[in-house]
Amino acid sequence: MYRTHTCGELNIDFAGKEVTLCGWVQKSRDLGGMTFTDLRDRYGITQLVFNMETNSELCAQARKLGREYVVQVHGRVMERSNKNPKMPTGDIEIIVSELKVLNPSELPPFTIEEETDGGDELRMKYRYLDLRRAPVRNNIILRHRVAQEVRKYMDSEGFVEVETPVLIKSTPEGARDFVVPSRMQPGTFYALPQSPQTLKQLLMVAGFDRYFQIVKCFRDEDLRADRQPEFTQIDCEMSFVEREDILNTFEGLIKKLFSSVKNIEFSEKFPRLTYQEAMTYYGSDKPDLRFGMKFCELTEVVMGKGFGIFDSAEYVGAICAEGCAEYTRKQIDELTEFVKRPQIGASGMIYARVNADGTVKSSVDKFYSPADLEKWIKATGAKPGDLILVLAGTRKKTLSALSELRLEMGNRLGFRKPGVYFPLWVVDFPLVEWDDEEKRFFAMHHPFTSPVPEDLSLMETDPGKVRANAYDLVINGTEIGGGSIRIHDAAVQKLMFSVLGFTPEEAENQFGFLLNAFKYGAPPHGGIAFGFDRLVATFGGQDSIRDFIAFPKNNSGRDVMLDSPAEISEKQLKELQIVTGRK
Ligand code: AMO
Repeated sequence: MYRTHTCGELNIDFAGKEVTLCGWVQKSRDLGGMTFTDLRDRYGITQLVFNMETNSELCAQARKLGREYVVQVHGRVMERSNKNPKMPTGDIEIIVSELKVLNPSELPPFTIEEETDGGDELRMKYRYLDLRRAPVRNNIILRHRVAQEVRKYMDSEGFVEVETPVLIKSTPEGARDFVVPSRMQPGTFYALPQSPQTLKQLLMVAGFDRYFQIVKCFRDEDLRADRQPEFTQIDCEMSFVEREDILNTFEGLIKKLFSSVKNIEFSEKFPRLTYQEAMTYYGSDKPDLRFGMKFCELTEVVMGKGFGIFDSAEYVGAICAEGCAEYTRKQIDELTEFVKRPQIGASGMIYARVNADGTVKSSVDKFYSPADLEKWIKATGAKPGDLILVLAGTRKKTLSALSELRLEMGNRLGFRKPGVYFPLWVVDFPLVEWDDEEKRFFAMHHPFTSPVPEDLSLMETDPGKVRANAYDLVINGTEIGGGSIRIHDAAVQKLMFSVLGFTPEEAENQFGFLLNAFKYGAPPHGGIAFGFDRLVATFGGQDSIRDFIAFPKNNSGRDVMLDSPAEISEKQLKELQIVTGRK
């Protein structure tokens, strides 16, 4: 037997016991006649003591141990004279009587401590070392716990976990597909699923009634902190349901997860916002509602006073930053620079300070009299001491810039508190979105999303106005999940394809398998998928999902540890009958 205990479990109750431990040498300190070594494994750290006086040979051996050596020690548990209340094992230490090096280690390229000196790329290259660090390891263990809780809940609700294939057919769903060449049918390609969307719908046709899967999805898109090219979904589908059934079932899941993983109870129903409300008041379909700072439209109020920027704007909107009237010139300039960043895209920012005595000072006093500014105050509800920030331009761009400004102010004012969670549903998304470049409608969600029944008649006359029977779960400004009630009626599906500009042949070619299945009795059905990595990162209180994935890719989609993607051999290319431009 290699060990009797782990490095995380010994405490004062074990004092006097002989134990054998195994683990990695975290660090050693030589203090006069004693050497103290921290021994680490997944479960914790235990202090080892080697005494020069009682066992000089062993102590000399211990002094040779380098960081990350794998060792086995035998010794006696003793109460520490100098206790460390921060460590679960901090009341005890092991007086070592035997030491065996199971494997030496090269000096690791960064320190394997809670706070490391390793930069991102280095940590990714040596991910297996990074995973030895408690914060990263704990994230992965958190992920495991959430997965177990998901399975428990889904099983208790009668969902069946079904695996779906990874080599499927390229079906455009929004992002670009990753493709895999076929050797047996040269010139043809499999695609990796962007999600198991069509397959889960086929499982409903197959009568499974309630399906779920914790499943890998692949999307070849630009990466961000909350996007990886391969990520995991909790993918779900139900038959004979309406929107309300889905929202209730999955609100139940999220509440259960918060309760069991975070010890947070949500007794009320999650609030719901329509897409329209979310865009009007927060400029985003995933608003962070940990704080208010709702937008206030000023377009009418500011019009016609000779200020060209406002007069020519399609939309003028404001937020009111409570207690910020005292902002310095420098702070205002910083905010102006912030909104002018290319990725935010505002052309500038106007402000009005509401002084403590109720008088107003704005950056456009030349155009707006105190009486005019009084109207701004009334519209925004600003109080003495508040700062009104105003952006203007085209509606879509300005709403989006104002949303970024709101989040920035939320950060500055400490409103986006870690550990506070605000889940909500956003409902009634538009079914389709016009793309100016391609001059055609695109499905906002995917082509199988059904319109809300009241809007069906608009499908032919004004598709841009049709609302989808779709919903997103948003927590703290992150889209955690999304889904919809599906189209199960062949005529509606046909209409949808025609709105999206698919010819019947194209629709048949890409989705024939699904349309065909629908001829054999498709039940009314709907579902949802949650971004599992995002959900776990949210529970872990972080924006980036990377440290919640054991082996993630970097921002250019590379696995720097495996050094992938990489070229393949001439022989492999030949077998696949692929000709590359490579020399
Ligand atoms: P959707 O495309 O909205 O829906 O994806 C569902 C959820 O998956 C997460 N997600 C991602 N997470 C990390 N990296 C990515 N690149 C990434 N892309 C998406 C998000 C998102 O809310 N088949 C439909 C679901 C359905 O209709 O049932 C779908 O995939 O959290």
